[in-house]
Amino acid sequence: MFVVATSFSNGIAAKLAEKLGARLVRAEEKTFPDGESYLRIPEKLGGTTLIVHSLYAPQDVAYMKLLMAIDAAKGAGADRVVVAIPYVAYARQDKRFLEGEPITVSIVLRGLETAGADALVTVDIHQPRSLDEWLSIPHVNVLPVKELADYFRVKLGQGVVLAPDKGALHRAEEAAKVLGLSYDYLEKTRDRVTGEVAISPKEIDVSGKNVLIIDDIISTGGTIALAARSMLKMGAANVYVACTHALLVKGALDRIYHEGVKEAAATDSVPSPISKVSVAEAILRGLQQIREAI
Ligand code: R5P
Repeated sequence: MFVVATSFSNGIAAKLAEKLGARLVRAEEKTFPDGESYLRIPEKLGGTTLIVHSLYAPQDVAYMKLLMAIDAAKGAGADRVVVAIPYVAYARQDKRFLEGEPITVSIVLRGLETAGADALVTVDIHQPRSLDEWLSIPHVNVLPVKELADYFRVKLGQGVVLAPDKGALHRAEEAAKVLGLSYDYLEKTRDRVTGEVAISPKEIDVSGKNVLIIDDIISTGGTIALAARSMLKMGAANVYVACTHALLVKGALDRIYHEGVKEAAATDSVPSPISKVSVAEAILRGLQQIREAI
């Protein structure tokens, strides 16, 4: 087995190659004077090749390079190309919220198949059902919740795990199971035009307790800031925050720490100052689940 590392692998490809006992092949990359990307796989491949490539900023360049890597791997002799994407960009636009919008997750996923991907492992894609909806190749979505929960185990002690909205409840449920704690969710609404988020407090007894809020993405930090403020107002002792993808745009970290968050931690799906755990183990679990297809 070969594992291909690109400039968007963030060290995860090397971790996986070691765990799999596979040969690590580093793609050569450059940018042409006119701004176009160039990528080459400098070795002959064969059998199954795993490409580990995340889609963090600049997302459009990242996506183009992933398509190039898939095609290059096939051209270099790979019989099967398995793609592992630690962070799938454009996944939040999974329907036409406003008339005239594209469904970007559909474009991203269908493009991978067109380029030649034979199987796909995603890490905490915004809506896993997008994979079933748009892909015909074998696929699996994995959650790094165990790793994130374990990171907070000692700090949290006897606390509660909360999802910032109902859609994120499965993460809170899994983290709570790992930690042996109770879980719940907060009600969130977002204005699709202005982007304003509001959180209505639920009947959750967080008084005097440590709270772990777990979500898929921290982007501007607005969702977490609101959730943290609301929990502290309700008497929580400490608020900890875990997320899979720390996009952290527009001073997000300052924003959430300013609201009183004691500590925020994320995975390495996106390079960030709060990256504390790796998604490598979760990807391995995903490869195991689709092993018959690869
Ligand atoms: C939304 O549905 C997602 O699960 C996240 O809650 C959201 O993307 C976080 O964005 P922000 O940090 O900008 O509030």
